[in-house]
Amino acid sequence: MIHLSRPDITEKEINAVVDVLKSPNLSLGPKVPEFETAIAKYVGRKYGVAVNSGTTALYLCLEALGIKEGDEIITTPFTFIASTNCILMTKAKPVYVDIDPVSLNIDPERIEAAITPRTKAILPVVVFGNAWGFDRVVEIAKKHNLPIVEDSCEGLGTIYKGKKVGSFGTMSCFGFYPNKQVTTGEGGMILTDDGNLADICVSLRNQGRGKGGGWLAHERMGYNFRLPDINCALGVVQASRIDEFRVAKTYLRLLADEKRIILPTEPADGQMSWFVFVIRLVDKYQQKHRDHLLKRMFENGVQVSNYFPPVHLQPFIAKQFGCKLGDFPITDAVCQRTAAIPFHNNLPESDARIVVDTLKKCLDELDCL
Ligand SMILES: Cc1ncc(COP(=O)(O)O)c(C=O)c1O
Repeated sequence: MIHLSRPDITEKEINAVVDVLKSPNLSLGPKVPEFETAIAKYVGRKYGVAVNSGTTALYLCLEALGIKEGDEIITTPFTFIASTNCILMTKAKPVYVDIDPVSLNIDPERIEAAITPRTKAILPVVVFGNAWGFDRVVEIAKKHNLPIVEDSCEGLGTIYKGKKVGSFGTMSCFGFYPNKQVTTGEGGMILTDDGNLADICVSLRNQGRGKGGGWLAHERMGYNFRLPDINCALGVVQASRIDEFRVAKTYLRLLADEKRIILPTEPADGQMSWFVFVIRLVDKYQQKHRDHLLKRMFENGVQVSNYFPPVHLQPFIAKQFGCKLGDFPITDAVCQRTAAIPFHNNLPESDARIVVDTLKKCLDELDCL
């Protein structure tokens, strides 16, 4: 089986974790600020707040911004479920806006039509490491005086229009699950230039404790969303290797002439940090063709996945908000045709060639369906 994703862990990462294990500081130790500083400095932001997942990072941003029941947050239906779950955790309502068919990101030109007096923030997602359109989202948010919570969980290392991903939002979030560009096993980080918002997040992640207060003094209701030093030590080494990671050139070269699929498009004015490699069947194919492709590639030893099913059609969301197929036609059409193929740093070119040959063989079967 050629796996969809594999972390890239060297002796350096292993030694860094072992060093923490030999120390007395397994949590709340020096590796936490070291990791926060490394990521904040790399992106060019003032504050980093490490937490235990990308989901909790997103949720803390919304809570720090005071989002509550009755508020509306504008977001995309083409993403991982956590981009919506963080909104539901605050009891606010996700308001979906359809996507741009090339970048697969929220279409900035549709955002203004979705703004109401209840809109309290915009939560755009760097889908598959592509930040196309984020400059326009910033312009629209500024015009309407709305904060942006940037879900960059899939985008650490991406540059768009000269700016690093993680620097567009009022608050920006990364995720460090093992399929991400940088991993800490599990983990996440909030970046912001606002010291007050950073302080609130630091308190919220640590049971509501205050700055310089005692262990049993709690300023607000909080959580244990802390990221241990063990994970941060791994993150410090991974962060020092960000620019070695994720080059998709092999697939782009091997699949350049394949007319039955659409390849991911890197924006002309940006440089993508690849998170996954997602191909899309051209319009003449339907969901049954994509599903057949996924099944047959798996049977042939290639792990694949249907990144992403539409968030608005997940049964619990569809039921709660009355969403149905056709509400976001571009998202619906894209979701029926996409497939993520194996992609990670240590994927040898020989394996990439096997993936491509298998893909082509399975594509040949589609016209008989
Ligand atoms: C776009 C997006 N947002 C949020 C998350 C949540 O991150 P985590 O799994 O670390 O909670 C992910 C994780 O895959 C993601 O892809």
